[in-house]
Amino acid sequence: MIKPDKSKQDSKKIQIKDMFNDISSRYDQINKMMTLNMDKNWRKIVYNLSMQDNPNKIIDIATGTGDIALCFADDDVEVIGVDNASMMLDIANTKVAKAPNVKFQLEDAENMSFEDNTFDTATVGFGVRNFEDLNQGLHEIKRVLKPGKNLIILETAVPSFFLFRFGYFLYTKFVVPILGRTIAKNQKAYQYLSTSAEHFPHGKEFQLILEKAGFEDIKIKYLSLGIVNIYQASKPI
Ligand SMILES: C[S@@+](CC[C@H](N)C(=O)[O-])C[C@H]1O[C@@H](n2cnc3c(N)ncnc32)[C@H](O)[C@@H]1O
Repeated sequence: MIKPDKSKQDSKKIQIKDMFNDISSRYDQINKMMTLNMDKNWRKIVYNLSMQDNPNKIIDIATGTGDIALCFADDDVEVIGVDNASMMLDIANTKVAKAPNVKFQLEDAENMSFEDNTFDTATVGFGVRNFEDLNQGLHEIKRVLKPGKNLIILETAVPSFFLFRFGYFLYTKFVVPILGRTIAKNQKAYQYLSTSAEHFPHGKEFQLILEKAGFEDIKIKYLSLGIVNIYQASKPI
């Protein structure tokens, strides 16, 4: 299991929570820089896919500072963004003034307080690879989704074409840790984010994990030369 600090005994869940609380005030800024502002477009694609189903009630899991949840601010839809790092939610809450339909709630994605079959759509942006128990998290998401409804996951991937992969490794091994050290003031956090992205299953391998967790009809969109993927998967009826 990849943890932010292998030398510490704390569980991955505690370390991830502490790490995101620590970088919360710099998270948005560094995200934009690291993704060269592409994160906005990726979230927009998640938004468009979500709205295709005309949902009434959406859950954005591992919502962080709330940027996926807030894409729905102008829509007639109820959105709950959940995260277990309270300081990430504090930042999200500074953005909700013009979005009365969006609420944020402290929840552990791997053990949520919602009833079964509550939501019409679930979204997760760059969240699943940080779960302590991925399988437990996916089962929990399936539990709170209504039958026949969609889970949409935006997650990092590694490009398959060797030249793009080479560029990706140079960027993640050298540029990202420097940004982490100088701007986020937490080099370990950004080293973890690079390493976990490098090792997290993607493409067909992640599709298999979704299938094993009981999702069906899985579609994959490969974006930005293969550095991120969007997975769309439905809960069986
Ligand atoms: C990389 S951030 C992504 C934030 C946001 N979704 C985005 O697209 O920018 C990952 C988030 O996952 C949250 N997270 C990780 N494990 C979690 C868990 N078990 N339950 C709830 N949130 C979790 C972290 O606290 C963090 O805010």
